[in-house]
Amino acid sequence: MKILLIGSGGREHALAISLFKSPRLSSLFIAPGNPGTAQLGTNVAIQDTDISGLLAFAVETQIDLTIVGPEAPLAAGISDLFIEAGLAIVGPTQIGAQLESSKAWSKAMMLKAGIPTASYGEFTDHVSAITFIEDAPLFPIVVKADGLAAGKGVTVATDKAMALNALNDCFVNDVFSGAGQKVIIESFLKGEEASIFAFCDGKSFKPMLAAQDHKAIFDGDKGPNTGGMGAYCPAPIVTPAIAKMVNEQVFEPLLAQFKAEGIHYCGIIYAGLMIDGNDVNVVEFNARFGDPETQIVLPHLKTDLIDVFEAMVQGRLSEIELEWLPGAAVCVVMASEGYPGSYAKGRVITGVDSVTGNPYVVHAGTKRDDNQLLTSGGRVLAVVGQGDDIASAIDSAYKGVDCISFEGAQFRRDIGAKASKWLNRSL
Ligand code: AMP
Ligand code: GLY
Repeated sequence: MKILLIGSGGREHALAISLFKSPRLSSLFIAPGNPGTAQLGTNVAIQDTDISGLLAFAVETQIDLTIVGPEAPLAAGISDLFIEAGLAIVGPTQIGAQLESSKAWSKAMMLKAGIPTASYGEFTDHVSAITFIEDAPLFPIVVKADGLAAGKGVTVATDKAMALNALNDCFVNDVFSGAGQKVIIESFLKGEEASIFAFCDGKSFKPMLAAQDHKAIFDGDKGPNTGGMGAYCPAPIVTPAIAKMVNEQVFEPLLAQFKAEGIHYCGIIYAGLMIDGNDVNVVEFNARFGDPETQIVLPHLKTDLIDVFEAMVQGRLSEIELEWLPGAAVCVVMASEGYPGSYAKGRVITGVDSVTGNPYVVHAGTKRDDNQLLTSGGRVLAVVGQGDDIASAIDSAYKGVDCISFEGAQFRRDIGAKASKWLNRSL
């Protein structure tokens, strides 16, 4: 099967690694890809948002199946375009992708479907949002830009001044380039976050193993949020009882709501959860795989990923039995100096070639120049370690990290440590 994979991050390298394992793969094209994906297929110099360019390439190359990694092409309507042209694509159409591209739309879906989530208000004018904050009885309160904001549109405001400032950024300073002209203000959820992804073909869904991301830049969850500094899977905070609850209270009602509204959702549903004891709320939905969670969820999947994706586009996902491998996987992200603010680029990376097998390297913001590997993004690469349990997977991942260096590299030393408090407790 000829596959086109869209995107250039660590998530896409991780997807490419899984696709490459399939005996059914005849050729793999990645647009635009990265030096990691270049080792597994052919990188094609088309940006992920150039959806007409991607369609032209897919038609010309007679691609059998396209898989969309990031949210931007989904929000731009790539799946509508491909479906109209009669091509098979994994990823929701523009209307379904609003699950991620509009927080207001997503919250309204949750409300209609009865999915547990924080209570909220929706505002399109600054003055009424200010009045709401002035009258807010409780802080922290959470201010969210409605549209896509590269993970930067959410402020957990600990006081009134911070909340008002966040509103200013949305309505007056327009720092999210239009994405903040509509704002959600919601109550603060306490607990610990975890994410569960599900494959969905519009008729049924199949959940994957739960993962836990580490969003803050510094150890102990300190400092500003990033795209994710590391993750592990499975996440013991998601007990079988909680996983069952998520199926029954999140995925099932969401799919039923899609059906009721005539939305055919063929893609990944990412449920970002807040877990507090037996209380589970949805913090957000995304319309794609998570990054860096994909790097540590997919290595557990024993079922051929091409079989799963093919079943999705053919509407027969219910016939597939997902098989998962035991053990644990941990990934530690190495990021550029200055990230998540403005960061340095072009630093020479050494040691990557020595990290193969277990642990191994997943590329994200890297580029090859004259046979040198250089940094080119905020999150540069991730080292994935696997083991019989989380502790041995952590050891393996950090052994790899210790072999790799570039000037100003930032990484957390405590990825996976959170799991231990759940493992030491009888569940
Ligand atoms: P989102 O983009 O909606 O996932 O928000 C980004 C991050 O902000 C989440 O991963 C949480 O850490 C935090 N966050 C968002 N909404 C809430 C909430 N209602 N209560 C507590 N934390 C939140
Ligand atoms: N790891 C968070 C995300 O993919 O949105």
